Amino acid sequence: MEIFKDPSIPGYQFEIGTTGDFQAEHEAIAALVASRGQVDVEKVREHLPAATIVAVARHNGTIVSVCVLKGARAYNRRVRRKSGFPLGYDVPELGYAATRTDHEGKRLGRTLHNEILKRVEGDVFATVRSTNPTEPGILERRGFQREGRPWKGQGDYTIVLWYRKAPSRANTRDDAR
Ligand SMILES: CC(C)(COP(=O)(O)OP(=O)(O)OC[C@H]1O[C@@H](n2cnc3c(N)ncnc32)[C@H](O)[C@@H]1OP(=O)(O)O)[C@@H](O)C(=O)NCCC(=O)NCCS
Repeated sequence: MEIFKDPSIPGYQFEIGTTGDFQAEHEAIAALVASRGQVDVEKVREHLPAATIVAVARHNGTIVSVCVLKGARAYNRRVRRKSGFPLGYDVPELGYAATRTDHEGKRLGRTLHNEILKRVEGDVFATVRSTNPTEPGILERRGFQREGRPWKGQGDYTIVLWYRKAPSRANTRDDAR
């Protein structure tokens, strides 16, 4: 696990590791993610153990921000079908981004997104509710583009597929495996 502090963000410690590194804190992470209202706590509990990378920011010993690279899973097939975009079954998903409200706007989410993306060699995707005010901009500024067609979510919103091609292949067109 990599642990570091950023002098420009005093008071926080950043930790990037495997899901196993955070085994004892899965419930706390799931609760944090669910508290931001974008994902059900059961879904986080179910999928966190299969995550490839877990990145957190800690303040006074407590995890206050998280971002995860999920392992490829059956969800890819569903996204492919619903979006009409030829999403590869092995493409990992960036998700479960959540910062506790009292720690928002301190560049924690930014740092965790960047740390995860630094470690992704190939393509990566994310799915975001159409009503989300912040995440689309975060993804767009990091090279993600909207792909396919949005599909209906479980509430009064659609879900949008965001996709980032591997940097080395960003200029090629034949990339959708
Ligand atoms: C999205 C979220 C994780 C960002 O966390 P954060 O720690 O506040 O993020 P940061 O302070 O690092 O800001 C990240 C970026 O968003 C921008 N941003 C932050 N707050 C914003 C706001 N209210 N409106 C627009 N942009 C905003 C910042 O300028 C920054 O941009 P950049 O890094 O691309 O230059 C946090 O707002 C959150 O938990 N939201 C609810 C859950 C959610 O929507 N998760 C995504 C689900 S797919």
